Amino acid sequence: MAGVFIVVEGIDGAGKGFVMMKLQEHITERSKKYDHVLLTREPTHEKHGAKLRELLKKHDDPYSSNHEFLDLFTSDRRDHLRHHIEPCLAKGYVVLCDRFKYSTIAFQQAQGIPLAEVIKSQEGFKAADLTILLDLPANTALERVANRAEGTEKFEKLDFQEKVRQNYLMLSRMFPNEKIAVIDASTDKENVWTQVKTALEESKVLPY
Ligand code: TMP
Repeated sequence: MAGVFIVVEGIDGAGKGFVMMKLQEHITERSKKYDHVLLTREPTHEKHGAKLRELLKKHDDPYSSNHEFLDLFTSDRRDHLRHHIEPCLAKGYVVLCDRFKYSTIAFQQAQGIPLAEVIKSQEGFKAADLTILLDLPANTALERVANRAEGTEKFEKLDFQEKVRQNYLMLSRMFPNEKIAVIDASTDKENVWTQVKTALEESKVLPY
C-alpha cells in the first residue's frame, strides 16, 4: 500500500501546530495504528534545518539573503525527502508534514526572487496528496505570534506576511492538478478543525 502525504501550510501564526496535532490524533484513531503516522516538519532539525533556525532568529530584515535562504530550504528538503519522507511513504505510512515546497514558493518569492525561478528550484520534488492551507489576515496571525515566549523571527513582519498570504492564495492556480484545501483559519480552533476534517473526508486521500 502506498503511503499518503499530507502537508499543512500557512503564514506564521496560522495555527499549523494545532491542526497537525488534531490530524495525527484523528488519523491514528481511524487507522488504529499509531506507528503508521509520521509527524514531521520543515525546516528540519538536521544539518541545513538547524542552520536555518539559527539564521531565522538572528536576522531582522525579511528581505535579506534571499538566495542563501532558497538554497538552504531546498537542500534541507532534499535530505528530508530522501531520509525521512520517501522511506516512510514507501512503507505505507501517512506522512504529516508541517510546511513543504509550497512554503518556499510563498516565502522566498515574497523575499524578492522571481516566481519562475522559485518554482524551478522546487521542480522534481513530489506533490502532496493533500495540502491544507490555513488562511487568515496577517495582522490576526501576527498578534498570535507576538504572545510567544521565544520572541519573533526574520519573516514575522506585517507587510511581508501579507505578501506571503497572497502568494499562498495563488497556489491553486499554480498547481491546478493538486488537491489544495483553503481553510478559513481566522475563526476559533474547533471551527478550523471542523473545516479541516471536512476537507480531509472530501479529498478521499485516506485508505480507511
Ligand atoms: P516555522 O515557523 O513553521 O517553524 O518556519 C520557520 C520559518 O521559515 C517561517 O517563517 C517560514 C519560513 N520558511 C520559508 O521561508 N521557506 C521554507 O521553505 C520553509 C519550509 C519555511
